[in-house]
Amino acid sequence: MAKAKTYYFCQECGYQSSSWLGRCPECGKFGTFAEEVVKAAPIAGTRRASSAGVSTPKRIQEVTYSETKRIPTHCGEFDRVLGGGIVPGSLLLLGGEPGIGKSTLLLQTALAIHDRKLLYVSGEESEQQIKMRADRIGINTEQCYVVSETVTQRIFEHVDAVQPDILVVDSIQTISTEDIDSPAGSVSQIRQCTTEFQHYAKTTGVPVLLIGHITKDGSLAGPKVMEHIVDAVLQFEGDRNYGYRILRALKNRFGSTSEIGIFEMQGSGLREVSNPSEFLLSQRDETLSGAAVAATLEGARPMFIEVQSLVSSAVYGTPQRNANGFDMRRLSMLLAVLEKRCGFKLGAKDVFLNIAGGIRVNDPAIDLAVACAILSSNVDIPISPRIAFAAELGLSGEVRPVTRVEQRVAEADRLGFEKIFVSKYNLRELDSKRYHMEIIAVSVIEEAFRALFA
Ligand code: TYD
Ligand code: MG
Repeated sequence: MAKAKTYYFCQECGYQSSSWLGRCPECGKFGTFAEEVVKAAPIAGTRRASSAGVSTPKRIQEVTYSETKRIPTHCGEFDRVLGGGIVPGSLLLLGGEPGIGKSTLLLQTALAIHDRKLLYVSGEESEQQIKMRADRIGINTEQCYVVSETVTQRIFEHVDAVQPDILVVDSIQTISTEDIDSPAGSVSQIRQCTTEFQHYAKTTGVPVLLIGHITKDGSLAGPKVMEHIVDAVLQFEGDRNYGYRILRALKNRFGSTSEIGIFEMQGSGLREVSNPSEFLLSQRDETLSGAAVAATLEGARPMFIEVQSLVSSAVYGTPQRNANGFDMRRLSMLLAVLEKRCGFKLGAKDVFLNIAGGIRVNDPAIDLAVACAILSSNVDIPISPRIAFAAELGLSGEVRPVTRVEQRVAEADRLGFEKIFVSKYNLRELDSKRYHMEIIAVSVIEEAFRALFA
């Protein structure tokens, strides 16, 4: 029997200390230490190593792999984010807020991969509840096994019995190992269990998909160390009041992190949205001021989204600024540019900004649409919904070029836009004769203002 020892763990970053500390020397947070009893356990995964054989050093030329071995999930959006399917032997973490649809996504994927044997372990729901969810999704497969279990030792017994090709664990915070006395969800438990799953994945080549919860401030609950152990961290996000859900890779050892997958939550599970632009633009009212369409790129895919803004006189001394789906500091910067360089008096106005559909964009090409939406609301003149914008704004009000402009313009043309505003410096990359649409090149924000509202 291993000897038990008490340690204190920072619940934020996983820092381990033999005495209680008020402030974590690692991450600087206060009051995050909690006591956990750890048995001097065998080092992670040694128990399983015996059964799976020992690997020996090889010359790098001798190591073989084949790209075609990826397991397709039969879900285009999921595959896109993963970089073309699940890599055998990989450990994947799917994070997201409660109720966003993590269990639905993985169960749906589990049911769709009908050509592989799959074990879905749930520490949160009973087998009946999983079955009810599967009935809602409505896919029938003979290859999906489910079990409700929370202890890793039992889970590996089930794994030995079923011999799955893919293992899904929902969620890592509910799973515990008998080697550690602290409750499920504590730092030492999460770390140990994740390591055991990693060891299982690496030695058997069976990919493991873990679901993880997210804390209120948006980071994955449990220690950061978990993010270091896994091969890919996917985040499922969206506004629960809307149907859209976005799957993003925050880390991906086997693919790019710039691709996103878009889904819509429906009564019968998640539906893939393979053409997001048309989807996000469909609910547009033509007569309202304060809206502008941005031609953004997420990964390799153009996505047209609507920026909505409301500018009104501030009732109180300090004007309010609020942004949904857009960086607040970037908004402050754009407002300062409009105020200082172009003379629009926004300093005493409340400014609210919203990206339609509860979507978050990081592409700087959205800047010009944001600025024009704000100006449109400020002067109360609507911008036609058939106009799109694709440019970044600089600190002196200059309209800057964006990457892959021809792709954005071609997509705008295809979607039937009449005009697109781009930077003058992007013009030489564009062959205007190829498009039905008018390309308006501007070099400073005032030019765009005059073209739209004068
Ligand atoms: P769930 O996958 O349980 O979320 P998580 O595992 O991230 O906590 O999904 C929860 C929500 O999804 C729930 O509010 C109901 C909704 N839902 C649908 O709208 N349609 C469906 O077919 C399913 C299965 C769930
Ligand atoms: Mg769940």
